[in-house]
Amino acid sequence: MQQTPIGVFDSGYGGLTILRKLTAQMPSHDFIYLGDNARAPYGTRSFETIYKYTLQAVKWFFEQGCPLVVLACNTASAKALRTIQQNDLPKMDSSKRVLGIVRPTSEVIGSFTETRKVGVMATRGTVLSESYKIEIKKSFPDIEVIQEYCPMWVPLVENNEFDSPGADYFVKKHIKELLKRDQNIDTVLLACTHYPLLMEKIKEYMPVSIKIVEQGNIVTASLINYLARHPDMDDRITKFSSRKFYTTDDPTNFSEQAAIFYGQHVKADKVEML
Ligand code: DGL
Repeated sequence: MQQTPIGVFDSGYGGLTILRKLTAQMPSHDFIYLGDNARAPYGTRSFETIYKYTLQAVKWFFEQGCPLVVLACNTASAKALRTIQQNDLPKMDSSKRVLGIVRPTSEVIGSFTETRKVGVMATRGTVLSESYKIEIKKSFPDIEVIQEYCPMWVPLVENNEFDSPGADYFVKKHIKELLKRDQNIDTVLLACTHYPLLMEKIKEYMPVSIKIVEQGNIVTASLINYLARHPDMDDRITKFSSRKFYTTDDPTNFSEQAAIFYGQHVKADKVEML
């Protein structure tokens, strides 16, 4: 029988930190993952480029039969999601859905902070898009968002350097920069799906009084809630506990690296995206 899985997309490995939580809490749903490793990182790229790459990926997921795609990448969610939802989806197939991760995260961030000062650490693209400032303001007008972009964090993670002295240097530097801007930040959101891989280092340099929020559980709870509210969509997703992994770069490399993010070994296939 043909599978119609949920598509999960990221520029590289980061979305696997989200997929790990999704598959743990939605064990029967079928999932298919695509990492655009050949073109990562996205965080430093222009709007046009991120939009073009993300749209290609969405089209590919639709060709694989996915009725629903989750952009498990803040940069793609911040820069491309709205245009895809408003302009492209109606032309492609209006019965399909593309969801992002900025809004679900913004909708719950208020429950973590007491001082109402939230630090957002993300890629340059996400920070400059101001998406978190805009979305958090909608749900919690009293929260002030203080942002810091960390351009070296994704390359450190993608290149398996997340435990190196280089990681110490860049993690310390950006935490210091963020906290210098406001002494009252009590919550820091890791608004990039790659950053949980730097958690050990982040904890080393973040004062213990500050809550560090990652997105995996938040995005999972939001998707479960979405499917409960849209049973017609849930019915369209096949449930054979199938997981498939694709990368635009070398699948052997992907398979080796992916275990670090996903927590178990995976076999990946290559997809050409031009
Ligand atoms: N993991 C992605 C995010 O959540 C972006 C990484 C990149 O720069 O490609 O923003």
